[in-house]
Parts: sequence; structure tokens; C-alpha cells
Amino acid sequence: MRIGISTGGGDCPGLNAVIRAVVRTCSRNGVEVVGIKDGLRSLIDQEPLEVITNAMVADILPRGGTILGTTNRGNPFRYPVEVNGKWEEVDISQRLIDHAHAQGLEGVIFVGGDGTQEIAAAFHARGLNAVGVPKTIDNDLRATDQTFGFDTAVGIAMEALDRLRTTAESHERVMALEVMGRHAGWIALHAGLVGDADVILLPEIPYDPAVVHRHLQHRRSRGIKHHIVVVSEGARPIGGELSWQETGRLGAADRLGGAGEDFIRRLQEHGEYEARATVLGHLQRGGTPSQVDRLLATRFGVRAARMAIAGRWGRLAVLRGIEVTDVPIEEATGGQRLVDLDDPVLGVARAVGVCLGDEA
Ligand code: F6P
Repeated sequence: MRIGISTGGGDCPGLNAVIRAVVRTCSRNGVEVVGIKDGLRSLIDQEPLEVITNAMVADILPRGGTILGTTNRGNPFRYPVEVNGKWEEVDISQRLIDHAHAQGLEGVIFVGGDGTQEIAAAFHARGLNAVGVPKTIDNDLRATDQTFGFDTAVGIAMEALDRLRTTAESHERVMALEVMGRHAGWIALHAGLVGDADVILLPEIPYDPAVVHRHLQHRRSRGIKHHIVVVSEGARPIGGELSWQETGRLGAADRLGGAGEDFIRRLQEHGEYEARATVLGHLQRGGTPSQVDRLLATRFGVRAARMAIAGRWGRLAVLRGIEVTDVPIEEATGGQRLVDLDDPVLGVARAVGVCLGDEA
């Protein structure tokens, strides 16, 4: 038996741990694993697929990134091609299915976020067996309580907040840290809470700069002159727009960015603040995975391999409570898992006096 593995979408710490777990579990069961490079490029370009040996996965567990490469462009169901000098999106999926079958693949393990799982579900429906593994620092995948990559990103943001605190204190400044997460505020909420932020602004709760101003004034009246604000990249003021870096590029996801600077501009309309914004950016995605992500990624990888070996295709490895189990891939598609307004962690943030930019 021969299966393929692909890592798709933005990378995150723990991808190599999944690859290692899949290869090791499969090899102990006499199943060969081949690597599909750069998302699905090897299938798009109809390359011969290389076997991933046990030797190739030795020592990769602690390494960030992915030995297979990845991309968040080039969805084969909406693939950008130039036709008569004009770019349009076409469905090239059959070409990939044919090549996968020609290479002897019984199926493919798709490691990725919501976009990748949409692709996996669509392939499965068209006759290419698929198993999914949920990955993303954003933690916004439906069907699983947690994705791997999230814990590491939160840890990095927490450390950044610890560092911003000391310089904020020395200069009596407002320090805004813009964190990733797209339209979900999980990284901002968790990092803000463990990093002792005074204000956390989430995509799920449009903020009122006047409310934040009053909160900071109240802190000032108690003699506190430095303030730490975590701004999710998808945060926006009530009645305001999202901060975009780039939109509308064919075949590519729109890019958020600038919410931290935007917040500072709006805050300064209400009072005099010496304020600086830091964009944490891709530091959240790089480097070695935390122990939580190493363990979760390894558990997911073993589950995915076991599903493939047993022929239980069309399923996604997920975390439910403390158990790793599996559900139909479709459960992860059709939207993101956002921070619920009843989320207990949100309640904890309010209970310890964090301002969430709303009147509550
Ligand atoms: O989905 C992961 C993520 O890091 C988001 O948090 C962020 O908005 C986006 O990817 C950044 O994408 P890129 O790597 O293309 O800049």
C-alpha cells in the first residue's frame, strides 16, 4: 500500500512532527508514504513522487516549517491560468486525481487548515481518498477543540508581551501588539490573557476607542501610566473597516494587516497618548513547536495514518476534550470556528478586568 502526504496553507510549528508520525506509523505497518511537495505542486506538475523514508524523518520532530514545503495559493478547484492574455480560475482537479492514481496512491493525507480541508473534502467526493489533519496557528478550524500550531503561536505572543511590558513601563507608553488569527481572535484572547494585557481587541467584538480611552484613563487615575493592548489583525472599530494589506489577488488569500496602527490612531483622537504598535507577524509561525504542539501533532499524525491504513477515508483527526478521535472532513468546512461571546476564556478575561473594547 502506498499513500501520499501533503502540507497546505500557511505553515506552522508541528507540521514536521505530523509527517514523522505518519511515516513511522505507516512503515511499521508495511505502508509506503510519498511526499507531495509545496502543497499540491507535485501533483499539479505531474512529478514522480519521492518516498519519505524513516531516515528522512529522523530529527525533524523539533523543527518548525515543513520538509515538504507548502503554499496558500493554487487551489486546484479554482486554479489561476492565463487564457488569451486574461487570468481566470479553472478546475484542474481531475489532472491531480489521475496523477495520484498513476503514482499508485491509495489516498492522500492532507495536513492543513480550513482551505486545505475544503480541498481534501472535494477530492474525496471526486474519487481521491482523503484523510485530514487539522493545522493552523489561528485555531479557527471547525470540528476540533484545538489545532496544532496554536499553542506555539500563543507562547511566542506571550513572550513578546512580556518584553513589551518592560519598555512600556520605562517610557510610560501604550504598547499595542498586533497578532495574527485572521477573523478569529483565539491567539489575541489567549496570548492577551496569559501575557497580562490590559486591553484585548478581537475580530468578534468590534471595539469602541472611547471605551478603551476611558479604561486607560481609569488606570491612569490609579497611577498606572503604561498600558498593554493586544490587537488581533482582524479587529475593527464599531462601524469601521478591517485593515487589509492586500485584497483581490487571483488564486491567493486576502491579507490582513495594520489593525494595531489603526487602533492607535483612533485612540489618539480621544486623548494624548505616547503609543507604539508592534506587528508580531510571521514570528508567530516560525521556529520550534511547543511541547503541547509536538504532542498534538504526533497524536494527529498517528490517528491519520491508522485511518489510512484501515481504509477509513474521508475523515479528519480531531481533538475533543482530551481525546483524539475523528469526524467526517466536511465537519471542518463551510466557515471558521470563531470566539463565541459565551466562551469561558472570554469570561475569565472580563473577570480579571481586561477591557475588550465594548461596554460590557
Ligand atoms: O492562517 C495563518 C496565518 O498566519 C494568518 O494568521 C495570517 O493572516 C495569514 O496566515 C498570513 O498569511 P501569509 O503567510 O500569506 O502572509
